[in-house]
Amino acid sequence: MRIILTGSLGNIGKPLTRLLVQRGHHITVISSKVERVSDIRNLGAVAAIGSIQDLDFLRETFNGADAVYLMEAWEGIGSLFDNKIDFLAEFKKIAQNYVTAVQQSGVKKIIHLSSVGAHSDQGNGSLLVHYHVEQILKTLPEDVSIKLMRPVGFFSNLYRSLLTIQSQGAIIQSYGGDRKEPWVSPYDIAATIADEMEKSFNGRTVHYMASDEVSPNEIAAALGQSIGNPDLEWKVIPGEDLLDQMLSAGVNEWIAKGMVAMQQSQGDGSLYEDFYANKPTLGKVKLADFAGEFAQSITNSI
Ligand SMILES: NC(=O)c1ccc[n+]([C@@H]2O[C@H](COP(=O)([O-])OP(=O)(O)OC[C@H]3O[C@@H](n4cnc5c(N)ncnc54)[C@H](OP(=O)(O)O)[C@@H]3O)[C@@H](O)[C@H]2O)c1
Repeated sequence: MRIILTGSLGNIGKPLTRLLVQRGHHITVISSKVERVSDIRNLGAVAAIGSIQDLDFLRETFNGADAVYLMEAWEGIGSLFDNKIDFLAEFKKIAQNYVTAVQQSGVKKIIHLSSVGAHSDQGNGSLLVHYHVEQILKTLPEDVSIKLMRPVGFFSNLYRSLLTIQSQGAIIQSYGGDRKEPWVSPYDIAATIADEMEKSFNGRTVHYMASDEVSPNEIAAALGQSIGNPDLEWKVIPGEDLLDQMLSAGVNEWIAKGMVAMQQSQGDGSLYEDFYANKPTLGKVKLADFAGEFAQSITNSI
């Protein structure tokens, strides 16, 4: 198949490119940076350099494709520390670009990277962007088949806590405890998307993705053990304090408030209601595997 991938060589894009090339597909990878060309070619794919915010570029790149993998990138829209950016409006614009480019290029098969929380426009914080993107994609004519892939939180998000893990011996969030929640590895997401890409599907379907179910305290214990700090804790602070910390650090206000609201829905479990009503088979990568990778990446960075 001739497949176009957005997401460059990001968390999902890189393993997804590898898998689809290995399976003999003709892969074009969209990146915004010309310096990515040789890495993309080294994986056996073709590079298309341009922006997912550029409709003409998308239309031209999608032309003649059998399928497209569509995602939106937060950092590609702008700095998460820029208070002037309306991230929701920008996500909607990219989704509208996708709709127009798909229609004008004649693509009939879409796999879209959405998110847990996209089932509702209430109480999911910044994941609201994914609800709206799904609604916009669903305006495509019925003969365009769309698979909406909804991963839960990525294990790789835990790298964002590296600083406090090293300086304070803690992962600091506004929820925690012993309630298990689903987590996913980008490798399992890539493997699932590669499999789905090769299936024929019709209409609009939703597919949740998760790798393991573990609690915040289990995560702290596993990461602590892997990095030789058995006292590593998952520390819970009030949502208002987390918000204050993010705002003082200059995080975009809408994103900061959205993060706190999202964590509230993780803590009370409401974020996962639709996930558990449509629970997928768990992937292969478990917390212990990620803990090993986490420790290795710290060792490599020293
Ligand atoms: N983290 C989570 O827990 C989680 C959970 C559920 C859903 N999600 C969703 O997953 C998505 C992120 O996926 P990911 O982690 O695979 O992405 P990622 O690692 O952030 O990579 C995305 C890549 O897209 C490219 N890009 C950025 N802006 C672009 C633009 N304007 N035009 C063309 N390419 C651009 C960048 O590569 P170049 O520098 O090469 O352009 C970037 O590395 C987001 O939509 C997020 O909301 C995340």
